[in-house]
Amino acid sequence: MEANIVLLPGDGIGPEIVAQAKRLLEGVATKFGHSFTTSEHAIGGNAIDAFGDPLPQSTIDACKASHAILLGAVGGPKWDDPTARTRPEVGLLKIRKELGLFANLRPIQTYPELVDASPLRREIVEGTDILFFRELTGGIYFGKSGRRPHPSGEEAFNEMVYSTGEVERIVRMAARAAQQRRGKLTSVDKANVLEVSRLWRQTAERVMKEEFPDVAYDVVLIDSMAMHLISRPRDFDVVVTGNMFGDILTDEASMLPGSLGLLPSASLGSEGPGLYEPIHGSAPDIAGKNVANPLATFLACAMLFRHSLGLTAEAVAIEEVVAATLKAGYRTKDIAAGGPSISTSEMGDVVLQQMTA
Ligand code: NAD
Ligand code: IPM
Ligand code: MN
Repeated sequence: MEANIVLLPGDGIGPEIVAQAKRLLEGVATKFGHSFTTSEHAIGGNAIDAFGDPLPQSTIDACKASHAILLGAVGGPKWDDPTARTRPEVGLLKIRKELGLFANLRPIQTYPELVDASPLRREIVEGTDILFFRELTGGIYFGKSGRRPHPSGEEAFNEMVYSTGEVERIVRMAARAAQQRRGKLTSVDKANVLEVSRLWRQTAERVMKEEFPDVAYDVVLIDSMAMHLISRPRDFDVVVTGNMFGDILTDEASMLPGSLGLLPSASLGSEGPGLYEPIHGSAPDIAGKNVANPLATFLACAMLFRHSLGLTAEAVAIEEVVAATLKAGYRTKDIAAGGPSISTSEMGDVVLQQMTA
């Protein structure tokens, strides 16, 4: 197969982990006889520095013309001034919107050999296997926002909006995934307080009743879910929720396998290229030190093969190599629990060796 893959390294540890992922893509191409063309484009803080824009038009054009996109991360203290004209994160939100990537899939799986890397007890986390569907192009992230004068100084506002159509499409996608898994779907909202959540809940219930009577469906309030996620994570199969709730719950969920550095994500629309990235950020505290865990980005490559290129064997090969690497005892610092660890590039070496062995 020939495929055109856009790489968006971004900021902080982004370039370090994407460099390793690029080697892995090349390794997979060699092993399976594919030809992938990759090109790198600017997004985030470095794009603000070079172009004055966190998402230059040239990056949008390249993404639209690609089969799939792999992103590292954006952001960092250099661009954190609250009065700045723009921010790195704007670039990420804009590319999601431009490409219509309304569904963010975030799988949470625990590895038997890593169970002790989790701050939670083995008997709680062992066997956890959850697939989150986070709505990605609506909600409070994309509502009207601004500031206005207020007797005390000023006030700021962000509107949270969801339409029935936005809820229907993400719920349908999540329910179809549940049918392929253990047949359970949990919708998370704040319907006891928010009107937006009441529309979300009504819509989700209707879709599930009319179209997916075979899927066991329940609803959990967001605050309660934050607790259930770490007290009984094994009870959840597929979870669907809005943009901000999904953002927060999945960072929390990263403590089930043990590190943010292990969790990949896929952002998908109804057509066109998908965007694949680790769920973590640019990790300014460890950037430039060659210590970041590249496994989340490798697993994002597996999702890219599966969802955008239809290359299931290649996806499985990456997932198996990552599991075998952990089984063989290789650890980056974040999952080493104080024991011996290897660097970002050494982890890249080990994974690549196994992939091409
Ligand atoms: P972060 O996810 O960057 O880091 C949180 C903690 O996890 C840090 O201690 C970091 O060192 C650690 N960590 C993250 N990824 C790791 C990895 N691969 N290996 C080992 N340790 C890892 O979150 P933050 O510090 O709150 O945010 C930093 C910047 O990243 C902010 O500007 C934020 O807006 C941005 N951000 C970007 C994305 C993205 O591009 N998708 C996602 C989240 C945050
Ligand atoms: C994520 C990040 C982004 C989000 C930020 C950087 C805009 O936290 O991808 O999880 O909130 O969606
Ligand atoms: Mn996040």
